[in-house]
Amino acid sequence: MKEIVLSGIRSTGNLHLGNYFGALRNFIKMQNENRCYFFIADLHSLTTHPNPENFHENVKTVLSEYLAAGLDPEKSVIFVQSLVPEISELYTLMNMWSYVGELERTASFKEKIRKHPDNINAGLLTYPVLMASDILIHRAHKVPVGKDQEQHLEMTRVFARRFNSMYKVDFFPEPAAYNFGSELVKVPGLDGSGKMGKSEGNGVYLVDDEKTVRKKVMRAVTDSNTSPNAEMSEPVKNLFTIMEIVSPLEKVEYFKEQYSAGSIRYGDMKKELADDICKITLPIRERILEIRENGKYLSDTVINGTAQARESAAATLKEVKKIMGFKSFR
Ligand code: TYM
Repeated sequence: MKEIVLSGIRSTGNLHLGNYFGALRNFIKMQNENRCYFFIADLHSLTTHPNPENFHENVKTVLSEYLAAGLDPEKSVIFVQSLVPEISELYTLMNMWSYVGELERTASFKEKIRKHPDNINAGLLTYPVLMASDILIHRAHKVPVGKDQEQHLEMTRVFARRFNSMYKVDFFPEPAAYNFGSELVKVPGLDGSGKMGKSEGNGVYLVDDEKTVRKKVMRAVTDSNTSPNAEMSEPVKNLFTIMEIVSPLEKVEYFKEQYSAGSIRYGDMKKELADDICKITLPIRERILEIRENGKYLSDTVINGTAQARESAAATLKEVKKIMGFKSFR
């Protein structure tokens, strides 16, 4: 039997290099070797972006960018989270076996409290429960995610294990990261600290045109240190991390040697980095612009994918409810 792989992206704006390398890398192999589910987490987006003006447009944006990045509706099930109500029902049930204490300790929740003290909604607290429902509703084995989602995935395993032991069944598999065994990726931002993120304004988007990509990379924060063998500052480390992800190894080594010798010219390094980013993103940009215009392709993809996702989700939910003791009155 093929393993089940599931991946989600929130509909909060355009996809950036972090999303691409965190969640979509290896997608050709992934789609050929597994039963894949890819979805747009529009319910999750409501925890931070409750704006009806662009709610639907944002879903279409992520959908077009997913497809442009290489997801194939002939091979994978592509759907929208809110169109599969079984996920929300499992989420309600799962809230009964997740504990407030463990949810309050989640790093992403603590960070949101710190950054947005004016909107600490219950959806943020139970965010990992909804995410676990997304994964467990298809009884997925593998989940491609970046480093930032590691804790959520660990919590999903805890919830799966807890259900299995509470009800003395072996029902939910414990999902692993898709690249389990090797390190999960964290693509840093261009502003010198932290990860690349949609709301941080520090990213290169897949839809950016060449001029924008070059401008962003050339403006990336570095330092003025040119003494040989100096300890690398955070912004420079980050630039090398991005280069290690997008550029050939020889290029990274060349600039590392230049750095150690104290003769690095960041302008040259950034130019090479921008070239390599453009090689990856510009063909995707072309496809995004085409696909975005093809309304029929977008709606056919979602209608077809959602029907398949609901079938799989309904089968799981039926079993879960049976295990929990729900019975029909008919
Ligand atoms: P979101 O939309 O924040 O990110 C989507 C995916 O992109 C990865 N990612 C990164 N990876 C490496 N470096 C970065 N700078 C970077 N930024 C984002 C994220 O790790 C993620 O894999 N909670 C999820 C959405 C979700 C989900 C799920 C994912 C909801 N349900 C079920 C997998 C399975 C999120 O915040 O995505």
